Amino acid sequence: MTVLIPEDAIRERVREIATELNADFTGRIFTVVGILTGSLIFLADLVRRLEHRHQIGLLQASSYRGTATTPGILVLNTGLLPEIRGRHILLLDDILDTGATLSQVVAHLHGLGAASVKTCVLLRKIGRQTVPFEPDYVGFSIPDAFVVGYGLDFNDDYRHLPYIDVLPEGTAV
Ligand code: IMP
Ligand code: MG
Repeated sequence: MTVLIPEDAIRERVREIATELNADFTGRIFTVVGILTGSLIFLADLVRRLEHRHQIGLLQASSYRGTATTPGILVLNTGLLPEIRGRHILLLDDILDTGATLSQVVAHLHGLGAASVKTCVLLRKIGRQTVPFEPDYVGFSIPDAFVVGYGLDFNDDYRHLPYIDVLPEGTAV
């Protein structure tokens, strides 16, 4: 039995991303903003490897997908965020799929007066992006399949898996 991304590979990659961030954010106080709920476990593991002072904030983004021809509508709940104005933001999400979520959340954070916004995703799905958007940090590029684990869900289930795997065959999507 093999899984798409085993636990030790995730741990090693999170360590590498943290090393990059520690170099890039030297001398800068910043705010890590996680998009609920998928980024929760990634955030918890990553921030414990960051060496510079930072605050942590969370926001919720829910997308109600339209048909193939109508874009999904993204609803943001920013009520849990600390002060964003004037802050350098490191925005985290679990996965970049179409790009709709991250591009809209970045625009929203700029609208709230963020001094800068860098983006970091654990996963990037190949061949799915419809909104032009380049994340600053990417953990793993993965094939176009529905994946679960390490925060990623199917119907709010499977988030607790310590590894990432393709949703089992026969599970209705
Ligand atoms: P985007 O707006 O299309 O980039 O979608 C991003 C969001 O869709 C992520 O934050 C996830 O919540 C969800 N998503 C996309 N692909 C997957 C997947 O393979 N498994 C679980 N969630 C996914
Ligand atoms: Mg999500």
